[in-house]
Amino acid sequence: MSSGVELIQANAGHRSVPENLLQLYIHDFSELVPLDADDDGRFSYNDLSLYGSDASRLAFLAKLDGKLAGFVPITRISEPAGDGDVFDMTEFFVLRRCRHRGIGRDLAEKVWLRCPGRWQIRVTANNVAALGFWASSIAAFTGRTAERASFESDGKAWHLFRFDSHRSA
Ligand SMILES: CC(C)(COP(=O)(O)OP(=O)(O)OC[C@H]1O[C@@H](n2cnc3c(N)ncnc32)[C@H](O)[C@@H]1OP(=O)(O)O)[C@@H](O)C(=O)NCCC(=O)NCCS
Repeated sequence: MSSGVELIQANAGHRSVPENLLQLYIHDFSELVPLDADDDGRFSYNDLSLYGSDASRLAFLAKLDGKLAGFVPITRISEPAGDGDVFDMTEFFVLRRCRHRGIGRDLAEKVWLRCPGRWQIRVTANNVAALGFWASSIAAFTGRTAERASFESDGKAWHLFRFDSHRSA
């Protein structure tokens, strides 16, 4: 069922909105991974400047009743093996006040439909809420149990979900 969330592709006119929402996202995330604020009280995020200048990076804002509800930067990755492109769900954030109302699932579905193709979503193994969210959202979208693999990176355990939003649409 649609939550009524509106998907807006971020552009230069949105100026600092993605940057500000990322601060909230990283702060949430610092409960799960050891991320410290810089001396100026902000968290650093290296790749943000690439959104808007790099054609493979897109950022979406979510609004509900005209108010910001979420933020979704994605990256289009070319597979070296020549298998075509994969969309990577680089980050995914629903503002706290908006959670547990089906907004995240609706937002994810709108992004998958806007960008049809193969998708990958990496989730740290200790992000229990996100693991439950992605497993149930992908299954609801595709009608199948989500395909999930495990891997390690920098000594941390991760899960990787993969599916094709084109076939599911
Ligand atoms: C994870 C997150 C995106 C979920 O957003 P949300 O809008 O609250 O999710 P929804 O209300 O659409 O939930 C859809 C389903 O996901 C699952 N789910 C959502 N939150 C969950 C939680 N905390 N624990 C377990 N399952 C959860 C449930 O199955 C839920 O369906 P139900 O309400 O019918 O039970 C949000 O909590 C968030 O932004 N967290 C911080 C950032 C983050 O971890 N992002 C993911 C990075 S990989």
